[in-house]
Amino acid sequence: MKRLICVSNRISLPRRSAPGGLAVGVLAALRRIGGVWFGWSGETSEEPSAEPQILVRDNVCYAAVDLRSADFERYYNGFCNSTLWPILHYATGRFRYEYEDYEAYQAVNAQFARQLAGLLGPDDVVWVHDYHLIPLARHLRELPFHGPIGFFLHTPFPPLQVLRVLPNHAEIVRDLCAYDLTGFQTEDDLRAFETCLELPAHAIARLDNGSRFEVDGRTVRLGVYPIGVEAGEDASEAAEAMGEETVQRLIASLLGRKLIIGVDRLDYTKGLTERFGAFEHFLTTFPDNQGKVTFLQIAPLSRSDVLAYGEIRLVLEQVAGRLNGRFAEADWTPVRYLNRNFSHATLMGLLRAAHVALVTPVRDGMNLVAKEFVAAQDPEDPGVLILSPLAGAARELAGALLVNPYDKRGLALALQTALHMPLGERRRRHEQMLEAVRRHDIHNWYGEFLRDLTGGQMLGGSAAAAAKSIDRLPQREGGRPRSRREVGTGRGVQNSSR
Ligand code: G6P
Repeated sequence: MKRLICVSNRISLPRRSAPGGLAVGVLAALRRIGGVWFGWSGETSEEPSAEPQILVRDNVCYAAVDLRSADFERYYNGFCNSTLWPILHYATGRFRYEYEDYEAYQAVNAQFARQLAGLLGPDDVVWVHDYHLIPLARHLRELPFHGPIGFFLHTPFPPLQVLRVLPNHAEIVRDLCAYDLTGFQTEDDLRAFETCLELPAHAIARLDNGSRFEVDGRTVRLGVYPIGVEAGEDASEAAEAMGEETVQRLIASLLGRKLIIGVDRLDYTKGLTERFGAFEHFLTTFPDNQGKVTFLQIAPLSRSDVLAYGEIRLVLEQVAGRLNGRFAEADWTPVRYLNRNFSHATLMGLLRAAHVALVTPVRDGMNLVAKEFVAAQDPEDPGVLILSPLAGAARELAGALLVNPYDKRGLALALQTALHMPLGERRRRHEQMLEAVRRHDIHNWYGEFLRDLTGGQMLGGSAAAAAKSIDRLPQREGGRPRSRREVGTGRGVQNSSR
């Protein structure tokens, strides 16, 4: 049996979980199959970790390394989140570029490859996640590692005309082709990537008119694997959480008013300023709703050291303050804006308690909150989803009210429609969406990707066995044993899918 090694920039340590769909997906795969999750601990230090810290929990062997403080600045804040993230989300206005950041990006990828190589055996299957680690396969091949390596991009992928803004775009395309299988969220992303294969820098041939390409002498397969949620578990968690104190207190505080909810990492791609503007327009155009609805926006802070995130935070504070100042009554505040996170279970309860969800990103790879909202609803009396067509989830959730996130009149009208939608129509729409969410759940997502990567070979073995095999690997030069010290499991937010 082959062993699964997942690699991502940030790993989601128990009780210190990282936000995002990536963490939800990788954890679901590893808990079910067993294997190793290698990546950044979330900590920085002056020197890079000599070797990963190991922790074994729930069938998963976590192998965590620290980033050097200098690399955190240039690699994480710089190339990953000021250069790649905006360009992948078509946000050229937010794009920043410095060659030194790109050098740090390559250096951290090379370092990850070296640290990972110490853990790898010949029978391992490596699955790399997201834009932070695009060059990892090339660095691993150079070591060399000959086993299968797959890559999944959790964000959108832009067409060549947008990607060209990035000076090193040809190298990024080359590195995405160094994998055996490269997966995208939607057909649109795959087609956009295919436009980049026309770059003259590479010798590219399409094989069999299909999804396999020969690039610079090696074969890469491309595919679409829309990420999903644990539909059944989310539903039971949501039903159970209705009895939780936080959810009960929220419901009591509404005094019978209808609840509109938004749950997003505080990121300019999520369309939050546009959403707040649309809500203001809604209260102005349909004034009967004043005093009768409450909009709860949960937006935990994210990437706070990156300039664009500081800017969007300030703007949102102003917009929320202005809106409340303009409409609030002594006994009613239209917007409740929270920069904090909740446990996954509580979030499911809050989503179930809502009558309407606003999931209106200006660009999003998939957006699992949309799918979680559907899974969390009471099928007998479901809420309505207002969804941006610019989120990957819109490809599957036809039962949502699809509205352009920049169209404040359209959004205001959709809110009015959603709040007054008859039960029969709510049920019909919800049924379609629930069927789609169940069909492409999280187990289908990793199951299909790994089947295509391994050609259907069995993966498995317990995490304890994975950790033992790390022990059996040769000692490092100088005879120092591998570190088995436990990584911290203290403070922190729980998992959520933003
Ligand atoms: C998005 C990205 C993930 C990332 C997550 C949280 O979902 O696709 O790769 O882990 O955001 O971002 P952070 O910068 O906090 O890791």
